[in-house]
Amino acid sequence: TGGVITIDAGYKNTGSCESAITFLDGEKGILRYRGYSIEELAEKADFLEVAYLLIFGELPTLGQLDKFHSDIKKHSVVDDDVKKILDAFPKSAHPMGVLSSLTSALTAFNPSSVNVDSEEDMYNSVVRILGKFPVLVAWTMRKKQGLPLYYGDSNLGYVENILKMMFKQPNEEQYIQNPILIDALDKLLILHADHEQNCSTSTVRIVGSSHAGLFASLSAGISALWGPLHGGANQAVLEMLEAIKEDGGDTKKYMAKAKDKTDPFRLMGFGHRVYKNFDPRARIIKKAADEVLGDLGVEDPILDIAKGLEQEALKDDYFVKRKLYPNVDFYSGIIYRAMGIPTDMFTVMFALGRLPGWIAQWREMRLRKEPIGRPRQLYIGETQRAFKTIEKR
Ligand code: SDX
Repeated sequence: TGGVITIDAGYKNTGSCESAITFLDGEKGILRYRGYSIEELAEKADFLEVAYLLIFGELPTLGQLDKFHSDIKKHSVVDDDVKKILDAFPKSAHPMGVLSSLTSALTAFNPSSVNVDSEEDMYNSVVRILGKFPVLVAWTMRKKQGLPLYYGDSNLGYVENILKMMFKQPNEEQYIQNPILIDALDKLLILHADHEQNCSTSTVRIVGSSHAGLFASLSAGISALWGPLHGGANQAVLEMLEAIKEDGGDTKKYMAKAKDKTDPFRLMGFGHRVYKNFDPRARIIKKAADEVLGDLGVEDPILDIAKGLEQEALKDDYFVKRKLYPNVDFYSGIIYRAMGIPTDMFTVMFALGRLPGWIAQWREMRLRKEPIGRPRQLYIGETQRAFKTIEKR
């Protein structure tokens, strides 16, 4: 409106929208989805219930949840041509790049534009992507491992079937998944489900604000999440912990590197734009990591290094002064690793969890008829100058 323009790099102090989906209090370490605390949801709900809650605003009745799950199963078939696109990727391709492409490719095989004002249209798009995305996740992982691809078992729960599609071995007759791992993954997906206007969610909203389709907007969100400063941090945490282990487990050396301004190294899994206190999700995930490794009888030196690093950071005044505490990504990779999920699939697991949050935020943005996102800038380039022919350059 011709007013004064102030630059807020990274939008640290800019509100982009009003939203009724997720509430965060960074000082008190509070996270609620539609008013319910994540501590209660992680303990008492399952991931599909939470997905329904985020997207449609209320916890589902038993009938609504059963219908939601059966509709999702009906739409979990992936077009053979999408499978051909997956086959075209080299095994070396990073799963996040594959899934961003496949999610966008789904636009070619499903109704691309969603009439958000039609509840039925929106519902059908939601069950389609919630049905197909986990299949693409499992198939992307197994293709890299040279394992056969299949749809798992429609009699299983949503999360249990994801694990079956990921892990059932070809010659295995009876596939029994450890209930501890099913519960741990269900909890992890719930804890990752939404987080108000983080980088990838803001991406989904701004792409959707041009009225681009839902699948295209989600594909952009997957790409944003891939970055090591955001969802890619869970993979970067494990790579960092592995490096520390290879380097003799000297956490003090890496703490020094993280504080050295001449060294670009950051302690992956620490710090957060909003939580200037403990990330409440990290607290729950740390407890789950202890339980999973305890129940599996896994002695993972990486977990010991992680705990050592956390102890160091909690008493280091550089970190305390900057309020750098473990975030959601610090412990999640340890559980994924204990489950046998390859490190380059960790951020894909984050996307699997965040999918309902992105859908909910996209739907809210469209229902509220938000304007197309188009910020301004402060120009710092050349003043006007005359064209020079090539002979004179
Ligand atoms: C996620 O936004 C969300 O909600 C994201 C997320 C979600 O659910 O969607 O919670 C998921 O992305 C969690 C964050 C995962 N990323 C990492 O773990 C990567 C490491 N963390 C950092 O890069 C950093 O903490 C960010 C990106 C998370 C936050 O960065 P900010 O808010 O832009 O803070 P900053 O970069 O301005 O840092 C402030 C100070 C700086 O030092 P000074 O210039 O003040 O001297 O803290 C330092 C930074 O150098 N700092 C770190 C650090 N993080 C910040 N120093 C060492 N190690 C770190 N990890």
